[in-house]
Amino acid sequence: MDDFPATKSGLNILILAAGLGTRMRSNTAKVLHKLDGRSLINHVCQTAAALAPKKIFIVIGHQGDAVKRAVLSEHDKSAVEFIVQKELLGTGDAVNSAREFLANEDSDLLILSGDVPLIRVETLATLLQQHQSHRGKGAACSILTVKLENPTGYGRIVRDSEGLFERIVEEKDATDEQKQIREINSGIYCFDGRKLFAALALVGNVNAQGEYYLTDVPKILRAGGENVSVFQQSDVREVSGINNRLELAEMERVVRSRTITRLMVEQGVTFIDPTSCYISSRAQVGRDTIIFPNVSIEGASEIGEGCSIRSGSRISNSKIGNSVEILDGSIVVDSAIADSCMVGPYAHLRGNARMEENSKVGNFVELKKTKIGQNSKANHLTYLGDATIGENTNIGAGTITCNYDGKNKHATKIGDNVKIGSDTMLIAPIEVGDGAVTAAGSVVTENVASDTLVAGVPAKEKKKLKK
Ligand code: UD1
Ligand code: CA
Repeated sequence: MDDFPATKSGLNILILAAGLGTRMRSNTAKVLHKLDGRSLINHVCQTAAALAPKKIFIVIGHQGDAVKRAVLSEHDKSAVEFIVQKELLGTGDAVNSAREFLANEDSDLLILSGDVPLIRVETLATLLQQHQSHRGKGAACSILTVKLENPTGYGRIVRDSEGLFERIVEEKDATDEQKQIREINSGIYCFDGRKLFAALALVGNVNAQGEYYLTDVPKILRAGGENVSVFQQSDVREVSGINNRLELAEMERVVRSRTITRLMVEQGVTFIDPTSCYISSRAQVGRDTIIFPNVSIEGASEIGEGCSIRSGSRISNSKIGNSVEILDGSIVVDSAIADSCMVGPYAHLRGNARMEENSKVGNFVELKKTKIGQNSKANHLTYLGDATIGENTNIGAGTITCNYDGKNKHATKIGDNVKIGSDTMLIAPIEVGDGAVTAAGSVVTENVASDTLVAGVPAKEKKKLKK
């Protein structure tokens, strides 16, 4: 063994994510299930990336292409390397499939599990630090452990009479006595890369599951006179794995409750019934905003100060200014709403809808890829798609932009100070000039000049309007 502290050239991270996760009883690979609106694998990848490793290696197998796509939707291609585990022969085999990439790397290797999503960067940094400084010269292996009330299902940490690490025993291989041990293996470890791969070659599969266990490696290293250190963590949730839907739901509850508590305590947001709301941890909500029961705020949505979001509304990937009122049952997806607007009840904004300051979109109004200018209103029963609407314009009840001819979508442009009468059909592509008026029930098939009244089916010019 070396007499000097290990001088490793940096850190690599390996994430195990090839398993199907049988206990999820799902057609979707476990690591693709979502927690806090984001796949489990991306939670782990994000934490890994925060440690600034040389590279993140991900062992994929079940639905490997989908896992790859999920990761690459959030991470740069150059930062990650995917390794296909051909046959799922256990966690030891999973690591072994990275042999050609990592066996000759003179660096520490941090191993994470794709199904342990809440592990914190700080904890991993401490594990690494302890690993490197163990007994003055570093350990060959450091294991993150935790004591559980109910350790069932996990690998147990067996210690010798002096309390030093001896081995990990998997639940299925444990004696009744070993099953009483409450200290468990989190599945998160730091290894001296070379020593890990040397020991892995000695791991067999004679055990209850007929698998190659990564958990046999520490025992082998110890038998070879290497230092194995154990870092016992106190936060149980952080190292909890997700193995079934119940655990997923429980973790979701914990994350959500943390987010809402933070918003209330640190940001000054009021929740009338915090337990009924779903708020993404990536969302921002400003001071004195009031959130009523049963509201969902998803993705990286931003909501300003002094807003009110009424029951049953869903806001996803959208930006909302200050003093905006969103009434009951409204859906806002991929859209932006400026200050002092009113939305709903039962409005639907989607596909990059934009509301400028002080505009209003009311009952049963749908906006798709449409911009509404300052102080303009569409209060009732209206569909506006692919439209641009100017300032101080009123869109009467039941107006529809007929934007689709069966093949293509066409644009509608409506100017400032326009009055669109109730039940107007605007056959796109079409333009309505500033100050124009359409009478109720018009079917507008030709452009309308500024300051002109049109009426009828199809709409004809009735008169020029005085300015
Ligand atoms: C594993 C540990 C156990 C530990 C627990 C912590 C082993 C043998 N056991 O058990 O000591 O307490 O994690 O959560 O390591 N995977 C692969 N390829 C495979 C098998 C698994 O990539 O062939 C991946 C899975 O996708 C998963 C991770 O490795 O992300 C852990 O596998 P899992 O089957 O969940 O192991 P556990 O039984 O939980
Ligand atoms: Ca597991």
